[in-house]
Amino acid sequence: MARHMQHLKALRDIAFSCGVGEHPDLPSMARELSRMVFQNRQALNDDLADLRTHNKGFERWLLALRNKPDITVLVNAWPANHATPIHDHAGLWGLELALHGALEVESWECDPQGRSLRAVGRDWLGPGDASWFDADDRYAHRCRNLSRHDTALTLHVYGGDLAQYFTYERTGETGQWLTRPQRSAIAGHLHA
Ligand SMILES: [Fe+2]
Repeated sequence: MARHMQHLKALRDIAFSCGVGEHPDLPSMARELSRMVFQNRQALNDDLADLRTHNKGFERWLLALRNKPDITVLVNAWPANHATPIHDHAGLWGLELALHGALEVESWECDPQGRSLRAVGRDWLGPGDASWFDADDRYAHRCRNLSRHDTALTLHVYGGDLAQYFTYERTGETGQWLTRPQRSAIAGHLHA
C-alpha cells in the first residue's frame, strides 16, 4: 500500500483543517471533502486500486492520526454485501464519506444506558456523499455496502481514537437489546 497518495493527503489535510474545536463544522468538512472527491474521482480510484481488489474482508486502514485536537482519519474497505452491526462511536463526533461504491446508513438513537434503541433515519451515500454526527453518546448506526459484487471504499474522520465502542443487537425471544464491547482492528497504515 506504499503508493504515492497525493489525493488522500489532500483529504487528510481538509479533515485536519476543518476538524478544530470541540464541535467542528461538520457540514463544511463534508462539503470540502465532497468537492475534492468529485474533482479527483478517477485519480482517487487509481490511488486506491489496491484496496478495491484486496478482497480480505472488511478492513480499516489508518490514514492519519493527530493529537490536540484529536482526529483519526481512516479508509475502510467493504466487501460486497457487507453490513456492520448497529454500533456507536464512543461518543466521538464523526463523518463518513463514500469514496467508491455506495453505502446505506441506518441511523439509530440509543438511550444513555443503551437499553433500547430507536431507528431515526436512513441515508444512501454514493461517491462524494457524506453522513456525519456530533459528539453524542446516543448516536449509533448500521452501515451496509449496497453492491452485491464490488468492494466499496469509505473515508472516516473521528474526533479521537475510536479504539473501543459498543455494538447493539436485538435478541430473538425477548426483543431486548444486547450490548457488546468491541475493539477496533487496524489492517495497516496508508502512507499519504
Ligand atoms: Fe460507524
